[in-house]
Amino acid sequence: MPAASAVPTPPALQRWAWWPLLPLYPYGRRRTLVRELIPGQVWSLEQLQGLLYVAVPIRMTVVRLRRGLMLYAPLPVTPELVAALRQLEADHGPVRTIVLPTASGLEHKLPAPALARAFPEAELWVTPGQWSFPLRMPLSWLGFPAARTRVLFEQGVPHGDELLWRALGPFDLGIGTFMEAACLHRASGSLLVTDALVAIDPHPPEIFNADPTPLLFHARERGDQPLEDTPELRQRGWRRLVLFASYLRPAPLTVLDLPDVLRRAFAPGLRNPRSHFGLYPFQWHRNWEDAFLALVPEGAPRVQVAPVLERLVFPRARDALVAWIRSLTELPEIRWLVPAHYAAPVPCGAEILNELADELSTRSWAPDEGNWSTLARIDGALVKLGLVPSQPSA
Ligand SMILES: [Fe+2]
Repeated sequence: MPAASAVPTPPALQRWAWWPLLPLYPYGRRRTLVRELIPGQVWSLEQLQGLLYVAVPIRMTVVRLRRGLMLYAPLPVTPELVAALRQLEADHGPVRTIVLPTASGLEHKLPAPALARAFPEAELWVTPGQWSFPLRMPLSWLGFPAARTRVLFEQGVPHGDELLWRALGPFDLGIGTFMEAACLHRASGSLLVTDALVAIDPHPPEIFNADPTPLLFHARERGDQPLEDTPELRQRGWRRLVLFASYLRPAPLTVLDLPDVLRRAFAPGLRNPRSHFGLYPFQWHRNWEDAFLALVPEGAPRVQVAPVLERLVFPRARDALVAWIRSLTELPEIRWLVPAHYAAPVPCGAEILNELADELSTRSWAPDEGNWSTLARIDGALVKLGLVPSQPSA
């Protein structure tokens, strides 16, 4: 099978370390949580990732197949992550396959080359339409190993006897392409997706137990309040993090001017990096929790499209998204949804997916008002600048 690119890799580019350029929480102290989702078949490796303290879980899913392990949606390589994978290899066989199932999700794309280097015997499969910004460079220049990188669908699919693959896209985003590859692991009934579908936990995920600081930071009302740790405050912080991650700037939030921020900064007990020296530019309105409950009703996580995807990636691609969800309902034996963010595994099946498709087809789509207004402004500005197309992109 031909390789994805025959262009040799300049060593200097291979060594590009992009991560330190971004102020990504948790900086150099990334922890990995390992959970067995389906006994003996599917595992979740989770890390926290985000900007400053707006951190949400990101997941790599490990699937045991007859010929070895598959890693779906790469995570940044750390000694803890590699140790966890070595243990799974010892128990269940070698890592044979690594899948980058998105063309645009930087948080999944950037770790792929290093993960491939950690498992030099594994094949790396990527979706079509991979791109880099601002310069378009061949995959091998970005550190992808040319000799063992394959393109999904164009060059086949891995483990086609045990996995069923479904492509969403490509959609033209202007600056690049959106494409995602969903995969059903037939033996466990697990439908792996990346960003298109999520199910948001009503309560803080387990990964915050190792360090709840992001939750406690955002649970406060003012910058001069100390970071206190109670179950209620963790819950409040989680709900606010979800609103940040979903809407960037939800409606019941005022971002304070710098003089107001500085007036409450540097309070006793908060003059340390963990507290960001008391710099806290947020003021939540009294009804803020209604926004969370509208997005995540009480009870079990529900399968949905993340607002940030709906408004910035799919605003003109509703029909194609709904068609893709309907195509998933034709897959046999779906029992669980395993996305690359938020809750997993989430009970799923044709009935749930059809209900979601019905809802998306009939409710207002990618609105401009309320919690959506910041996302709408960003989308409008990108369209105006000609950076994204104004017409349906499917
Ligand atoms: Fe993602």
